[in-house]
Amino acid sequence: MSEVVVDVQATEAGLIRHVAEWLVNRIAQSQGRFSIAVSGGATPKPLYELLASPAFADRIDWTRIHLFWGDERFVPHDHPDSNYLMVKRALIDHVPIPAENVLPVDTAGHPQDAARDYAARLQSFYGARQLDPSRPLFDVNLMGVGDDGHTASLFPKTRELDETAEWVVSVVGQKPEARITLTYPTLASAKDLIVLVAGASKKTIMRRVLEGDRQLPAARLYAHGTLTWFLDSAAAPGNVSPE
Ligand code: 6PG
Repeated sequence: MSEVVVDVQATEAGLIRHVAEWLVNRIAQSQGRFSIAVSGGATPKPLYELLASPAFADRIDWTRIHLFWGDERFVPHDHPDSNYLMVKRALIDHVPIPAENVLPVDTAGHPQDAARDYAARLQSFYGARQLDPSRPLFDVNLMGVGDDGHTASLFPKTRELDETAEWVVSVVGQKPEARITLTYPTLASAKDLIVLVAGASKKTIMRRVLEGDRQLPAARLYAHGTLTWFLDSAAAPGNVSPE
């Protein structure tokens, strides 16, 4: 069972700064390669931008960072909906991360092939095809929660929620474009799985998520290390207050 932490900050800007500091410290405390899985959506964008600013970027040894995507929209990499493009523009273009350390989902071809290919790339980085709970794939897996309780591209009442054999799957029919998503066991293979949620529009869903309503994909998240819910006070249910 993972350790679960709920960390509430008063404002969204304060939350973003707090998580950026937390991440810089985590990287500084580690040695060797440091793998981060990132997510799309609007919430983490200011975090990526802040990490790209000199005050934070200069404190990170980017040569050690390896970037992966927890999910991707199946559109070309130059499409406005691409999670890769969002992270590229907000972060990657502004920091000295080696190009070979950036591993986006390849969105050419067929979604099923892309899922298989991404699983193979993750397995090659990990050095095995079986995940070992004592040796997490990611140092940090950064995720979000949608208004309907989805996380990554795991949507309510879909069969992908029960997938435990495949590391990565394609999700067709939930959104106008196909999605590629890591499955729960892969997402859980993290020393720190952190979920960043901000804004009043998320309060109702976050109450159900934190109460453990398993209808909601985000409520089924777990990690082999620590699972931390990073919230601003607007998104935090009434019984959870800022530190
Ligand atoms: C995506 C995601 C997704 C996201 C949530 C929250 O590609 O859309 O990775 O799971 O984290 O939908 O998105 P917001 O931050 O925009 O609310």
